[in-house]
Amino acid sequence: MLSRADVFDELGIGPVWRLREAPVAQAAAAPVRPRLNWEELADAVAHCTACKLHLTRTQGVLGVGDRNADWLIIGEAPGADEDRLGEPFVGQAGKLLDAMLAAISLQRGDNVYIANLLKSRPPGNRNPEPDEVAACRPYLLAQIELIQPKLILALGRFAAQNLLDTDEAIGRLRGRVHRFQGVPLVVTYHPAYLLRNLADKARAWEDLCLARRTYATLTPDS
Ligand code: URA
Repeated sequence: MLSRADVFDELGIGPVWRLREAPVAQAAAAPVRPRLNWEELADAVAHCTACKLHLTRTQGVLGVGDRNADWLIIGEAPGADEDRLGEPFVGQAGKLLDAMLAAISLQRGDNVYIANLLKSRPPGNRNPEPDEVAACRPYLLAQIELIQPKLILALGRFAAQNLLDTDEAIGRLRGRVHRFQGVPLVVTYHPAYLLRNLADKARAWEDLCLARRTYATLTPDS
C-alpha cells in the first residue's frame, strides 16, 4: 500500500495544485494497470483537502456499487443526505435513479457503480465551482481506471458539460453517444431535475434505451 503522500502525489494532488492526466486516456486501446487500489483511493478522498469544500463537508463520498461494473453512473455532487450517509444518490433523486436503473434491468451494486463528479458536498447545494471540479477530477479518473466501465451514463447538465468539456445545452448532448477517456458516454437528465419536470421523463426513457442499445452492441453476449 502506498503512503497517503505518495497517493496524493500519484494523483497529482498537492498543496499546490498540479493537474496530471491519468494514463486511462488510452483505456479503449489497451487496458491500463491502475496506479492505485481502492483502499488507497478511499483513504485519499477521506483525507482530501485539495479544495475548500473539505472545510464544510461531513465526509468525502467516493461512490457506491460494483467495482467491476460495466455501467458507471456519474452525477454532480453529494447533497445533504449523501454528505451525512457517505453514499451517492440516497435521497429522493436516488430513489428515482434506482427506478430508472430498474427500468433497464439494472440495480445499484450489480454491474453498476455510482459516483459523482465531486466527492464533497458544496454548501447549501450550490453549483460546484470550476476549481472544485478540477481538484476532484483525478479521483474520478482513478475510479475509471479501476472500474474500467464499458459505458458511462452522465446525469444532468453539470456532469455532462464538465465531462465533455462543452457548454452545449443538455438537450443537444442527449441522443448521441459521446466518449470520455475512451469510454462511450450517454447523457440523460438528472433525476432531481426529473422530479421537478415530469414531462421530460419520456425523454429520459429514450436516453436509457439508447444507453442500453449502446451497451448491447459493446457486449453482444449480454
Ligand atoms: N445529486 C447528485 O448529483 N449526486 C448525488 O449523490 C445526489 C444528488
